[in-house]
Amino acid sequence: MKNIAVVGTGYVGLVTGVCLADLGHHVICIDVDEEKVSQMRKGHSPIYEPQLEDLMKKNIEEGRLTFTTNHAWGIRNMDVIFLAVGTPQQQDGSADLSYVQRAVNDIAQHINRDVVVVNKSTVPVGTNESIQQYFNQHVGELGQVDVVSNPEFLREGSAVYDMFHGDRIIIGADNEDAALLVEELYRRLKLPVVKTDIRSAEMIKYASNAFLATKISFINEISSICEKVGANIEDVAYGMGKDRRIGTQFLQAGIGYGGSCFPKDTNALVQIAGNVEHKFDLLESVIHVNNRQQLLLVKKAKERLGSLHGKRVAMLGLAFKPNTDDIREAASVVVANELIQEGAYVTAYDPIAMTNAAKVLNIEFANSVVEALQEADVALIITEWDEFKQLPLNTYSEHMRVPIVFDGRNCYTLEAVQEAYLEYHSIGRPVVG
Ligand code: UGA
Repeated sequence: MKNIAVVGTGYVGLVTGVCLADLGHHVICIDVDEEKVSQMRKGHSPIYEPQLEDLMKKNIEEGRLTFTTNHAWGIRNMDVIFLAVGTPQQQDGSADLSYVQRAVNDIAQHINRDVVVVNKSTVPVGTNESIQQYFNQHVGELGQVDVVSNPEFLREGSAVYDMFHGDRIIIGADNEDAALLVEELYRRLKLPVVKTDIRSAEMIKYASNAFLATKISFINEISSICEKVGANIEDVAYGMGKDRRIGTQFLQAGIGYGGSCFPKDTNALVQIAGNVEHKFDLLESVIHVNNRQQLLLVKKAKERLGSLHGKRVAMLGLAFKPNTDDIREAASVVVANELIQEGAYVTAYDPIAMTNAAKVLNIEFANSVVEALQEADVALIITEWDEFKQLPLNTYSEHMRVPIVFDGRNCYTLEAVQEAYLEYHSIGRPVVG
């Protein structure tokens, strides 16, 4: 079992640190935020992530997991240092590497022995080689540093599950011993390991996210055509997905992808391609389709009602997907701003994302679905929370002024809707009512 430091306690760093501790390693998580560190020491997670707090508490109690703001203390004498900091999008679409640079600089100052630095942050191809060069120049005689690229494939809301049940572990290294050491860290997971050179590992991360985003935009395009030709996207996606070469996952049509990864990473890959004079037409179209898709419900509602000016609109769901309070790049933000632009009165409800939404949206928030629907002229479903899926369908007609629903996530079967008193518009399926 190894001594591991994790620099950065966002959802990737924290989940990685906690799970590595649970595998038996001694892990120290480092973050600059004093308050956050003092909360984490008590087993309180700064993010909403199923199972995470239980695992934190267990591993803190069992003495394998600690937290510090002190880089010197956290980094000295470690066998492995994980780097897991954000690489947000810059104005031009490229990845902002300033957090990575700062973390690398902090790590370099305190290394006092041979160590493997494992980078989990999503970084443009070639970045890890630059990091390696930086260590070669700045650590000097004190120790040999080997940089390994080990991208993450954790989904928000199921990150702990994904860590233990992932499809593969990617290890990109130039040094075989360093690759073996990283493989050893994960051995108890018994997951397939793919070893590559560093640049290929960096590319696997971007290409994977870009491919998944492509699947989503593709099925969304098919759904728009389904609406026009009278086909049903649910049956079409099911029938396509049965072909194992296509696969059933990520063929859920809706109002587009959001979150802190797909929008950022697709834009960054377009930039990476552009830097080597390759125009990534396909991915540019994927992004374009997604931007258009996020506005689809508003467009449809406007067509149906003539104008949204002065209309009361209930928005159900704000999070970019269920089981998270994250609203970064969420369709809800685009939708709400567009509705305001159209002169509508917007009341939104989300089971857990309203606090985050209140920081960026100037709309009304309701305490329940029923409160949001009260006297509404139209309801838009933005996130497929179970709470909405399980809602008795007569709730709409009982509380809305007119029960017109635009469902951006196909939460209900057409059969169920047909039995309710409801005008129901969904994605890629016939209108009911
Ligand atoms: C995504 C990837 O799934 C992870 O493998 C990756 O590690 C992560 O990005 C990352 O780069 O850190 P995440 O953004 O948490 O994870 O969420 P997903 O579950 O992939 O969903 C992304 C968006 O796509 C959501 O807005 C979701 O509603 C949408 N989506 C997903 C669809 O519209 N249709 C689908 O069929 C699937």
